Amino acid sequence: MEKKTLTTQFLSLTFDELSPLQRKLVDRAREATFRSYAPYSRFKVGAAIALSNGEIIAGANQENAAFPSSLCAERTAAYYAHARYPEATFEAIALAARDVNDEWVDVPISPCGACRQALVEYETLAGHGVPVIMAGRDKVYVVESVSSLLPFTFDKF
Ligand code: THU
Repeated sequence: MEKKTLTTQFLSLTFDELSPLQRKLVDRAREATFRSYAPYSRFKVGAAIALSNGEIIAGANQENAAFPSSLCAERTAAYYAHARYPEATFEAIALAARDVNDEWVDVPISPCGACRQALVEYETLAGHGVPVIMAGRDKVYVVESVSSLLPFTFDKF
């Protein structure tokens, strides 16, 4: 028997320490929270995806009275991005969220399991790591790839 270890590394940065593209993506994700439809949770999430063709596609969570029919910001953005530009690959994704008091979350949020699974497939299509930039009010966490958030990924079968 052999015990093995998986680790995930992330950077904890301030907004000013991000690259210009990363800052722009965070701004777009923050803006997108204002287009969230979240009357049930009142938790407003925005996601922005930079594509290889230079476009940035943003999305926000969309809730529904039949709760499981709701969709997170990340998948709203990812599915639209790939439906709109099927030839383009994902370069990076940023997330931001405002809580029930309309405050920016203090601790950055990270994508839910279902969104990780959806995003990792676009990462596979891209053929390289797609950084995930998770923005809180003051600090920003960055991982170099979606797969680093999803060890033992279920990929192509
Ligand atoms: N949500 C997202 O949009 N993205 C996440 O990464 C976590 C959760 C949404 C789903 C639901 O509309 C609300 O936030 C509360 O869970």
